[in-house]
Amino acid sequence: MTVHFIGAGPGAADLITLRGRDLIAACPVCLYAGSLVPQALLAHCPPGARIVNTASMDLDAIIAEIAAAHAAGQDVARLHSGDLSVWSAMGEQLRRLRALDIPYDVTPGVPSFAAAAAALGAELTLPGLAQSVVLTRTSGRASAMPESEALANFAATGATLAIHLSVHVLDRVQAELIPHYGSDCPVAVVFRASWPDQRIIRATLATLDPGIGAGERTALILVGRALAAEGFDESRLYAGDYDRRFRPVGTDPRFPE
Ligand SMILES: C[S@@+](CC[C@H](N)C(=O)[O-])C[C@H]1O[C@@H](n2cnc3c(N)ncnc32)[C@H](O)[C@@H]1O
Repeated sequence: MTVHFIGAGPGAADLITLRGRDLIAACPVCLYAGSLVPQALLAHCPPGARIVNTASMDLDAIIAEIAAAHAAGQDVARLHSGDLSVWSAMGEQLRRLRALDIPYDVTPGVPSFAAAAAALGAELTLPGLAQSVVLTRTSGRASAMPESEALANFAATGATLAIHLSVHVLDRVQAELIPHYGSDCPVAVVFRASWPDQRIIRATLATLDPGIGAGERTALILVGRALAAEGFDESRLYAGDYDRRFRPVGTDPRFPE
């Protein structure tokens, strides 16, 4: 018996890996975080599967479900939105499973920041402008931010920021970022990336209406010069005169064939 933690992707039901889909189909028990995991994925569950929405359950109740499946020798598909490596609450579940000696594995998923970038048609790391992406959030009721991870500290690097869980505090985000990025820095807010009702707002840090996050909370704030840039360098990778292992150039290539 194994508990399969599966990244369910950002919303669109076909943005799940083949491995994730096949594991759902093979498990007689499916626990899913109903607040963000698309219901359409549950169609992959086998007939008669026990399907439990964990949105209203606490950790003890979730682990009790898993322990019951373990006692019955039934594999469990455990679905969380996006990828499991960020803000999934997987860590605490794995710790409980280790203590109970219940086997598990993890299948990655498409994270929401990648779905948001795809919706924008944007590369977040453009040569000469930004070569790092910071996945971050502001502090919330459930999780305080370590002091050293204040938005302003990341902003000081000029990296592209993908700010999660923060669309309801846009005014704070703008105030913290403008001193570092400038008020004309491009920003995009992508609501429900890849869902049928996806919505995109593009603005600058100064012109963004801080009220747009009042209703829908499932949104990513992307900030950085890479977002609206045309004046960036081309990468050396595809430059005609760039000698590299897979495309030797010149009379004395560095990596002869
Ligand atoms: C609890 S975190 C889950 C993150 C998830 N594990 C991931 O890989 O993206 C929820 C936050 O992720 C962002 N998010 C998740 N799905 C999204 C989507 N489809 N579009 C935009 N933002 C999304 C929002 O900032 C939301 O508040």
